[in-house]
Amino acid sequence: MSKPALLGGNPVRGEIYQHTTDIGREEKELVLEVLDSGVLSGFAASNDERFYGGKMVRKLESEFCDYFGVKYAVSFNSATSALHAAVAACDVGPGDEVITSPTTMTATPSSIIHANAVSVFADIEDLTYGLDPVRVAEKITSSTKGIMAVNLFGHGAKLDELRLLADRHGLFLLEDNCHAPGVHYHGKFTGTIGEIGTFSLNYHKIFQCGEGGVNITNREDLAMKMRLVRNHGEVVVDAKNIDNIVNTLGWNYRMTELQAAVAIPQFNKLNGLNKIRVDLAVKLKEILSRFDFLDFPYVEEGCEHCYYLYPIRYNAQKAGLSRGLFCKALKAENFLIMEGYLRPLYLEPMYQRKTAYGDKGCPFTCPYYKAESDYSEGSCPVAERLWKDELIVANFVKYPYSLNDMSLFGDAVERIISNRDELIRWEGSQ
Ligand SMILES: Cc1ncc(COP(=O)(O)O)c(C=O)c1O
Repeated sequence: MSKPALLGGNPVRGEIYQHTTDIGREEKELVLEVLDSGVLSGFAASNDERFYGGKMVRKLESEFCDYFGVKYAVSFNSATSALHAAVAACDVGPGDEVITSPTTMTATPSSIIHANAVSVFADIEDLTYGLDPVRVAEKITSSTKGIMAVNLFGHGAKLDELRLLADRHGLFLLEDNCHAPGVHYHGKFTGTIGEIGTFSLNYHKIFQCGEGGVNITNREDLAMKMRLVRNHGEVVVDAKNIDNIVNTLGWNYRMTELQAAVAIPQFNKLNGLNKIRVDLAVKLKEILSRFDFLDFPYVEEGCEHCYYLYPIRYNAQKAGLSRGLFCKALKAENFLIMEGYLRPLYLEPMYQRKTAYGDKGCPFTCPYYKAESDYSEGSCPVAERLWKDELIVANFVKYPYSLNDMSLFGDAVERIISNRDELIRWEGSQ
């Protein structure tokens, strides 16, 4: 076997694709239409049509409604703002807790902190990498207002169980569905099982417009409150006869017409883009199944995975090579991978030091908050084990990578494992 790139050999792959989105004629045409119209944003914080945004923004929202079969879609300038608006729309505030996953991007739990409430982390389960309903149930207190599930990597969390749990305790269920657009979960789309589902259109998502987000819901009250949060709500609540003005303090979370013009054709490509990922994932599994030290993404019976990211489980003992060295060698072969995905979020300084808004400990030590949040190391053992020891997340199962690239990844693994002893010696000499 030839020499690993880490030891001076030529990398198995020549290059890493940095831009992995299919931007074509349709996007360019719509962008030109917007530029020619001179209307780059259709929004104003006033009690008229402009409260709902421009033509493209409304078209995008209407296409989301049609595709997902929901009554309302509200667009935002990012999923971070969309998540905040979703939490705010559920009337979350000081003293409240929302239970969420530690294994996600930071914006998920931060959206709870943005509502001046406390993020409580429950452990995830080993298969879907989503919230474990048993662990969530243990975390419910009199301060709990809702649950925010994350459909991580492209597969639904245990959404049916979480829905039941939420209903039984009178809690809301939100879905951070940024990784799993267009994915079915027991006959429904992920993002439609919670009261609100959130999508991201940032530049590394499955379909994109640079930055952007969309929330979907079937509840008119939530849709209206999200629109108020999006667009300086405090100045229109009178004119709109809004009775419950909790959290209608608004922000500027508005999507521009240019963003929407890119987002519409991108959204229309979603099924095709997901199919590319699924085809590549099938091939990758076939290629890698000869390695007994690797395990593959779980797809629950009756559900789908879109492989926004492709989680691989690594058994260092069986491989005879530490995960760290294995990943370093894979990166040198020019494959985009993440070792462990992200550190469980309660280990971040904001939670460890309980410092978010100002320097007085808000919201963690807010006088309205009667409990004490537990962010101690070891509090979510499954999330910590996956992060520290087992997970390797592949980020090349997507356009424009090819089936051949999946085979090349198999070659890279083979090459690394065949040169295991040399790699270990090399590491010892560093
Ligand atoms: C799970 C998850 N939630 C939320 C976000 C935030 O999305 P945005 O960058 O659109 O604000 C991301 C972005 O990577 C994400 O992966």
